[in-house]
Amino acid sequence: ELGDYQHYMQKEIFEQPQALAATLEMIGGAQTLTPNLFGVAAPEMLAGVRSVLILACGTSFHAGLVARYWIEQLAGIGCSVEIASEYRYRVSVPNPEQLVVAISQSGETADTLASIKHAKALGMGRTLAICNVPESAIVRECALRFLTRAGPEIGVASTKAFTTQLAALFLLAVTLAKQNGRLAPEHEAGHLKALRHLPVAVQKVLALEPDIKVWATRFADKHHALFLGRGHHYPIALEGALKLKEISYIHAEGYPAGELKHGPLALVDKDMPVISIAPNDALLEKLKSNLKEVAARGGELYVFADADSAVDEEAGVHVLRLPEHYGLLSPVLHVIALQLLSYHAALVKGTDVDKPRNLAKSVTVE
Ligand code: F6R
Repeated sequence: ELGDYQHYMQKEIFEQPQALAATLEMIGGAQTLTPNLFGVAAPEMLAGVRSVLILACGTSFHAGLVARYWIEQLAGIGCSVEIASEYRYRVSVPNPEQLVVAISQSGETADTLASIKHAKALGMGRTLAICNVPESAIVRECALRFLTRAGPEIGVASTKAFTTQLAALFLLAVTLAKQNGRLAPEHEAGHLKALRHLPVAVQKVLALEPDIKVWATRFADKHHALFLGRGHHYPIALEGALKLKEISYIHAEGYPAGELKHGPLALVDKDMPVISIAPNDALLEKLKSNLKEVAARGGELYVFADADSAVDEEAGVHVLRLPEHYGLLSPVLHVIALQLLSYHAALVKGTDVDKPRNLAKSVTVE
């Protein structure tokens, strides 16, 4: 079943172009989206939505954090994202009009399922599941559904499930933007075109594997790593850190780059590699000044830039360019580079990549 691959994780990383294409197949060549993508009741349920609450755990939670940037920017609708195990047990202020979105690969995660039941018990009936398993408990619990078509994910670390969740969430953001009267037709067609081109763009990132492998061998002997990002790449920094810690057991933390001075800079020295996501966007100049702070403290910097980013190699600063600059969907490409980085760091360390110690694929108990 593994074919030419060494591990399921590697196979699943490389399956992402197909997984994304399958997930996006339902939009076909359309120039325009209809809310029916999310179920027959969607046109009515999504109409007039003015606020969104996303509930999930782990990597799926990180997908939700990216979606918040998209939903607020494109649709002009407030969005909060909460860890399911926190939401289900805290006293919160319910908003019956809110759209509640559960994100889950397995559809069986106990806390995510319980958080949706909790929201419903509080009177919130507009529920949507974004899930990779049809007829799973979470899909059955929600009024609306969008099924990602990543195919079975066997490696414990979520990879193709995450990027297909992002594709689904981007479709949701565009749909909400449209419903909220915030989307010019040419912008809609542009977003759809960018989505359709994703499999090709992903393929080009996968082709960087040999270079990423060299980086991974350089810091696989380190005990700690810091991941930095800004804006919609901040959640990708969190995801990069989670991937590295769960499969290579290197302690890693993800931070929004602007927080560096507020604490984590104290940790930076020559033994603390800093991995930074630096696409050419409005935040690049700010990020570069954060990176200078790291370099000044002797930290070794690994910068994932893109085709257009004005970042240069220098002593202690390594730069790898992703082949395309991808605007709002750039997180989908950058996370793939980080998946490959942690995969290869784990290989060097010789850990069990597909079955990390202490972890289960589907967390069906609390
Ligand atoms: C990390 C990972 C986990 C899951 C989390 C939620 O690589 O796989 O953090 O994302 O356990 O699982 P689902 O998405 O099945 O609800």
